[in-house]
Amino acid sequence: MKKKVLVTGGTGYIGSHTVVELMNAGFTPIIVDNLSNSNISVLDGIKKITGIEPVFENIDCKDYIALDRFFEKYQGIEAIINFAASKAVGESVEKPLLYYRNNLMSLVNLLELMPKHGIDNIVFSSSCTVYGQPDVLPVTEQSPIKPATSPYGSTKQMSETIIADTVYAYSNLKAILLRYFNPIGAHPSGEIGELPNGIPNNLLPYVTQTACGLREKLRIFGDDYNTEDGSCIRDFINVVDLAKAHVVAVKRMLENKSEKSVEIFNLGTGRGVSVFELVSAFEKATGVKVPFEVAPRRDGDIEKVWADTSYANEVLGWKAQETLEDTLRSAWNWEQKLMSRDGNS
Ligand code: UD1
Repeated sequence: MKKKVLVTGGTGYIGSHTVVELMNAGFTPIIVDNLSNSNISVLDGIKKITGIEPVFENIDCKDYIALDRFFEKYQGIEAIINFAASKAVGESVEKPLLYYRNNLMSLVNLLELMPKHGIDNIVFSSSCTVYGQPDVLPVTEQSPIKPATSPYGSTKQMSETIIADTVYAYSNLKAILLRYFNPIGAHPSGEIGELPNGIPNNLLPYVTQTACGLREKLRIFGDDYNTEDGSCIRDFINVVDLAKAHVVAVKRMLENKSEKSVEIFNLGTGRGVSVFELVSAFEKATGVKVPFEVAPRRDGDIEKVWADTSYANEVLGWKAQETLEDTLRSAWNWEQKLMSRDGNS
């Protein structure tokens, strides 16, 4: 029998890629999503790639009663991957309570319902934002947690604490916290990818939208940072690589390989790439020019951060495989597909 895994936020960017990888690995993912920042058409994309129609329930994880009923209906779920959360840093500064409500209530509901329904394992989407601007690079999982610079960041830190406290109190529970660096790219099939709402906040969707003429110019936020070319440095990780790490994490818990009841892993490539470098790598990989201008620094941006991935590589047995060039091409392929689908080209 295929093992059932609940994927909250499974129609979102990272969630949808993870659903595909779970199916490829022989699991039955069950998607719960309220479609607040995703589109139902993602289910078709998943089916086109895998040939399997994903199970989907339109439920808001903040709704305890609906979630309780969901678990009654779908007995035998063995693990949860919790992606359901809001993730726009700027929006979180303007609407802090929305972020605390969405991100924390959903998590608390899931954790409360896990023992009730006999589910022991949870994988949580955390972020390198918990490290703030690290004093030492690359960052390891032991690097200090810095005060959060946004309510979004606070919710990730608080969620990690909430999970650790809950696992401590309930001896059956186990958790793996995955701290993502900067996920980019799309599925190589071009059937699923990132679907930003409105004007993209994140760098690569802005780059691809500029490349296809939807936006006039990319603004590069700051060229006076203390880095070689003056722009910020990030660790850009391919979304399919990232998705695969979730499958490894679920298997690790189900096979009782976890060494501790709460394990934390950095998910990155280990390579720092500057914003200027990313733009020129995109131009080189795709042959498409990206008009840009240098703009003032963006509030709250970290100067540089990239991962020490040795713990994830050795203990989790996972390593990012895709090249930056292939990843950038996959994002471009997806953007072009979106353009032709929306009839804008
Ligand atoms: C942020 C969060 C990260 C979160 C992610 C999800 C922090 C420190 N980081 O990542 O935790 O998971 O959002 O959305 O809170 N840039 C431009 N022009 C643009 C857009 C971005 O120059 O139009 C630059 C930014 O200044 C930054 C880099 O590109 O230096 C990456 O930005 P972005 O893609 O927004 O990701 P982060 O801010 O690193």
